Amino acid sequence: MKRSAAHLQVIVITGASDGIGAELAVQLAARHRSSLALVLAARNEERLQMVARTCKRYGSACLIVRTNVASESECKHLIRSAVEQFGGIDILINNAGRTAQASFTERRDLGWHQELMRVNYWGSVWCTHAALPHLRESRGKILTIGTHASLTGVAGASAYSASKAALSAFYQCLRDELCGSGVAVLMAYPHNVATHLQDHAFLSTGVLGASGRGSRLMPASECALRILHGMEKNQSRIMLRRTDRLTHWLYLLAPRFANRLQRLWHREADDTTQQGNSLHPHH
Ligand SMILES: NC(=O)c1ccc[n+]([C@@H]2O[C@H](COP(=O)([O-])OP(=O)(O)OC[C@H]3O[C@@H](n4cnc5c(N)ncnc54)[C@H](OP(=O)(O)O)[C@@H]3O)[C@@H](O)[C@H]2O)c1
Repeated sequence: MKRSAAHLQVIVITGASDGIGAELAVQLAARHRSSLALVLAARNEERLQMVARTCKRYGSACLIVRTNVASESECKHLIRSAVEQFGGIDILINNAGRTAQASFTERRDLGWHQELMRVNYWGSVWCTHAALPHLRESRGKILTIGTHASLTGVAGASAYSASKAALSAFYQCLRDELCGSGVAVLMAYPHNVATHLQDHAFLSTGVLGASGRGSRLMPASECALRILHGMEKNQSRIMLRRTDRLTHWLYLLAPRFANRLQRLWHREADDTTQQGNSLHPHH
């Protein structure tokens, strides 16, 4: 089915096999039904099939492209496949990402830090570069999932926050470059969302592993709903909670005070961890 013939809206989502990406796909399908074509990308094809089955039940067309975004050629292949199948792209959602819970001082090896940059930073940049000519043509949107942690700084998250802060700076500049082109450049800054992100976190040793579940987590469905709301309104910075907006402003206006508050907050969180269930902030 080609986009021009069927007036399809074509949306590419990376990291669509789980968590926020899968929720975005399903909620978009529920809204736009047969006027939507989704291109779902991630490494786990079986899980992508499951997400696609749900989306197809709403009448949306789905293409699955197994993609490791840490590879430039696979990112190019993803975009090429979307255009070949549906004739263009209206929205690119750069959502694929990994996290890390690791004190920099304890790290023995920095290899995984580079891998994290490839997934979180280069994965988005490569997809964006390949999709840009098509997004210019459609006067489309680029939505990238950052993290609130990159705006504030959190102990143990230097690698993760840096990869997302780099994205934030990159897309701010791109937004400026694309001003007047009709392409909207949007970034969402979620915080503490209940997904499997922590289960695949890089730890100090470089080993992958679950690093705890936390309380005060926003359900992935609510996170996706708020992101889509921001995307519809073309908000360049999509903050999910009022407190996130407040802390962001506090960091800009009174950074030392905000830092002290954050350390206090984390000390409380650590105490909670020791007292009962583990609490690791999700980023
Ligand atoms: N959960 C939170 O609290 C939170 C907060 C702020 C920001 N975020 C951001 O939200 C985004 C989605 O995370 P999530 O919380 O939904 O975590 P998740 O449940 O672990 O989902 C991560 C998704 O990214 C995909 N992915 C990971 N590495 C990939 C790679 N190399 N190539 C292609 N796809 C890859 C995974 O699929 P495969 O394993 O199948 O490849 C999965 O679909 C991430 O960018 C994350 O940094 C999450």
